[in-house]
Amino acid sequence: MDIRAKELKNESYIGKNVSIKGWIHRIRKQKEKTFLLIRDERGSVIQCIIDSSETNNLTIESSLEIFGVLQKDQRAPEGGYEIKANSIKIFNIAKNDYPIGEYQSLDLLLDKRHLAIRTRRMTMISKIRSSILYYSRKWFTDNDWIEVTAPVIVKGSVEGGSTLFNLKYFEDNVFLSQSAQLYLEAMIFSLGPVWSITPSFRAEKSRTVRHLTEFLHLEAEAPWLSLDDLLKVQEELITFIIKHIVQNNKLELEFLKRDISELEKTSSPFDRITYEKAIDILRNREFKIVDKEISRNIEYGDDLGIESERILTENSSKPLFVIGYPLKLKPFYVKADTSKEGLGIAADLLAPYGFGEITSGGLREDNLDNLEKRIALEGLEKSNYDWYLDLRRYGSVQHGGFGLGIERLMRWILNINDIKDTVPFPRTITRVSP
Ligand code: 4AD
Repeated sequence: MDIRAKELKNESYIGKNVSIKGWIHRIRKQKEKTFLLIRDERGSVIQCIIDSSETNNLTIESSLEIFGVLQKDQRAPEGGYEIKANSIKIFNIAKNDYPIGEYQSLDLLLDKRHLAIRTRRMTMISKIRSSILYYSRKWFTDNDWIEVTAPVIVKGSVEGGSTLFNLKYFEDNVFLSQSAQLYLEAMIFSLGPVWSITPSFRAEKSRTVRHLTEFLHLEAEAPWLSLDDLLKVQEELITFIIKHIVQNNKLELEFLKRDISELEKTSSPFDRITYEKAIDILRNREFKIVDKEISRNIEYGDDLGIESERILTENSSKPLFVIGYPLKLKPFYVKADTSKEGLGIAADLLAPYGFGEITSGGLREDNLDNLEKRIALEGLEKSNYDWYLDLRRYGSVQHGGFGLGIERLMRWILNINDIKDTVPFPRTITRVSP
């Protein structure tokens, strides 16, 4: 009977002939007996005991199939089940210099990422990543949003020129997309509420624990909604994802020592404050920013950053919407709030416990003249946006959407500090390999 370790650890198999395929995760040789910890293809482990005479050439990460009888022994790790092996079939004897062990520098683990992803921690993280994608898709599908795809090779910037990656495209110069938003906006006219999940690219020059140069971007856009509707969509989506992760990924969360009670506090509605209130809180805390190499108190008009966002949510257990940023801090497409001079109808969502921004969204400028002015004001090449302006020329309607960084969401859900750990093959300013 060939099944995975997790299913094998079951009373009903005790005394039966079983087999398991996998890799040698750990090996402990004694004179007569050798204890192998076998890791199966899903990252579960089971101890196998075998005569030492059979194991001379066995090395860490060798792949094999073990045949034997399942027995119970309280001393066996992770559940007290083990296989008393009577024969093995070898697929590959690994070279005996496997570079990943218990204590490694972070750089080596990243250099050898193609092997380091075999660690059980990375397996658990990847499984939760898969669940997050699954439940995102499920929420949108259940709520009648249509999944679309957008191109990644584009002519115009969405989020400002400073983080654009240039790409030589035959005789032309193009960019890697920062966001699918403009294309999603085009699709709401024929599909209504749409969403997509695509890689987005940012030439982020700073090294931080929350920036990648390539990240997975979940974006949604819909016609005729208000900012409040949009915030509700995000609340529902995120609470849905978390509820199901807590229910269905218990093993992984436990392995990662995630305090589930913290996640269980995520419920709608999330907290909300205005941008102005956020600045007031920070000013009361005498929060300083460095501006042209001079440190000064934060003021209205300043952007929020990693540290200020951390302060705003470090003691909260619920996510926090910051609403109504100054237009000058936001890209050209943000709709101006006619009731509040200089402010945009936009909101960022900050994760609790200081994790910082995980989504950004709002209503889009739907008036052609205003949008043309904003494109000019930002010094953008109008010809690259002519197609986008058509959306305001032909049947423009109030609409809005948001973007959520999957890796940012994972940092919070998994309580992981470094965003690189949320993705199997991270891309940063200094790393594009493996
Ligand atoms: O705030 P951003 O730049 O907003 C947009 O791109 C909008 N056009 C989205 C939209 O409305 N459709 O990015 C949205 C989210 C951020 O809140 C963050 O979670 C994530 O994308 N993000 C990053 N994640 C990892 N590394 C980076 N360098 C990121 N930049 C943004």
